Amino acid sequence: MSELKEREEWGSKIGLILAVAGNAVGLGNFLRFPVQAAQNGGGAFMIPYFLFFLLLGIPLMWIEWGIGRHGGKYRHGSAPGMFQVLWKHPIAKYFGALGLVISLVIMIYYTFIESWTLAYSFFSLTKLYFDQTTFEGMTSFLTSYQGVTQSNHFDSLWPAYSILLVTFVLNFWILYRGISRGIEKLAKIAMPLLLIFGIVLAIRVITLGTPDPSQPENSVWNGFGFIWNPNFELLANPSVWLAAAGQIFFTLSVGMGTIHAYASYLKPKDDIALSGLTTASTNEFAEVVLGGSIAIPAAVAFFGVTMTTQIAMGGSFNLGFVSMPIIFTKIPFGEFFGFIWFLLLFFAGITSSVAMGQPVIAFLEDELGMDRKKATMLLALIVFICVQFVVFFLKYGFLDEMDYWAGTFGLVVFAFLETVIFMWVFDSKKAWEEMNMGGDIKIPILFLYIMKYVTPVILFVIMVWWAVVDAIPKLMLTGVSEESVPYIWGARLLMLAISALILFLVKLAWDKKEAKAKA
Ligand code: ALA
Repeated sequence: MSELKEREEWGSKIGLILAVAGNAVGLGNFLRFPVQAAQNGGGAFMIPYFLFFLLLGIPLMWIEWGIGRHGGKYRHGSAPGMFQVLWKHPIAKYFGALGLVISLVIMIYYTFIESWTLAYSFFSLTKLYFDQTTFEGMTSFLTSYQGVTQSNHFDSLWPAYSILLVTFVLNFWILYRGISRGIEKLAKIAMPLLLIFGIVLAIRVITLGTPDPSQPENSVWNGFGFIWNPNFELLANPSVWLAAAGQIFFTLSVGMGTIHAYASYLKPKDDIALSGLTTASTNEFAEVVLGGSIAIPAAVAFFGVTMTTQIAMGGSFNLGFVSMPIIFTKIPFGEFFGFIWFLLLFFAGITSSVAMGQPVIAFLEDELGMDRKKATMLLALIVFICVQFVVFFLKYGFLDEMDYWAGTFGLVVFAFLETVIFMWVFDSKKAWEEMNMGGDIKIPILFLYIMKYVTPVILFVIMVWWAVVDAIPKLMLTGVSEESVPYIWGARLLMLAISALILFLVKLAWDKKEAKAKA
C-alpha cells in the first residue's frame, strides 16, 4: 500500500454538494425540460415526471453515490473497477465499461453545444444578433454559426470552431487541476452565479406582463398556463411516460457513470444519504422552478401560444437560441439579460461536461496508473479527435445519433445494470448498509423495497419498451434522409470504435493487475 499515491479528496462538503449539483444541473434543465413539458401535456407531464423522480431518480442517485463511495474505498473511481468490487465475476468490469463509454460520448457532443452558449453570451453583450428581429433571420444566424447553412452572418465555421477550442481548453484545464482545485473550485463559483442569474431572469420574465397590450392573450401568465395547464388525456399516451423518464435520467445525470466518479472521492464514512437527496432536490429546483419560468413563459408573452408551440416542436435549441435572442432585442437592457441567460447556460453546461470527463480520467489514473496530467491529455486528445466529426457533420444528424444511443437509450441500460448488480448481486442488505453508513439522515426503509423491486422492474420495462417503439426503428434508419445515412453510420462506427478502445483499455488494465499480482 505504501507505494500508492494518496487519492484526491473533496475540500469541503459544500464544495462536493455544489459539484454534484453542478453535474446534474445542465443544459437539460433550461432547454430540454420546458420543451418536454410543453410537448407532453404541460401540468399533466409533471405526474409521470415526479413519479419517476421518486421511483427512479432519487433511488438511482443513492445507488450511484453508494456504488461510488464503496468503489472509492478500493481506489476505484470509475464503473469497471466498482462493478468488479461488487461482483467478482470477470465480466463485471466489462459491464462497467459502459459507464465510461456513455460519459465520454456525451462529453464529445455536449461540449460543442456548450460552446454555442459561450459564443452567444459574447454575441449578446456586443449586440451581434440584434439586427435580427424575425424567426427566419435569427434561425439563419444560428444555423450559419453552426455551419449548417450559408449566409452572410458567418461565412465560415471558424468562429464556432474557435469558441469550441476555448470551451475545450477551459474544460480540460479544470479537469487537469483535479477534484478540489479544479472541479470543486469551478462549482463554488459557477453554481451560486447560475442560481442568481436564474432568479434574476425568472423575475424579469414574470414582470414582462403583457408586452403588447393590443394582444392581451400574449401574456406571461398565459405562458405559465401553457406549461402547467394539465392535459390529462395525454397521459394515456405511452410516449409521454417515456419522455418523462428520459428527462429524469438526463437531468439528474443518472445512468452516466459520472456521479459514481465524484462519490469515489468521499471518505468511507462521509454522508451520502442527505447529500444525494440535496443534490437531487437542487436540480429539481433549478429545473422546475427556474427552467420552467424562463424560456416558455417569455416566448408566449412575445409570440403567443400558437407560435410557441411551433417553436417548442422545432426542438430545444430553437427556444434557447432563436426565440430568446429575439426577445432580448425587444426588451430594455436586452444585451445584459442575453448575456446572463447564455452565461447561465454556459455555467450549467461546463459544470456538467467536466463531470463527464472525470470517469475516464479516474479510470486511467486508478486502473492504469497514469498521473492526472497524462490522463487528462489522453482524454483531451480522444475528445478532440471525435468532436471534429460532430462539428463538421452536424447537419447530417451526427450529434443527434450520438445523443440518442448514449444520452437517451444508454442511460437506461446502464442504470438497469448498476441497480441489478448493487441491489441483487452485491446484495440489498449490504447495499442498504453502504448507502446509510455515516448518513446525516436515515433513508426511509420504503426505499429499500423501491430500489430492490420497483426501480429495476420499471427500468426493465422502459428499456424493452423503448427498444421496441424507438430503438429498433431508429436502428433501421426509419425516417432518415438518404443523404444522412452514411453519416448516421459514421456516428455509429465512431461510438463502436470508442467502445472497442474502452474495452481494450479495461482488459489491458486487468491483465496488468493480474501480472503484477502473480509477480
Ligand atoms: N444533467 C445534465 C443536464 O441536464 C447532463 O444537462
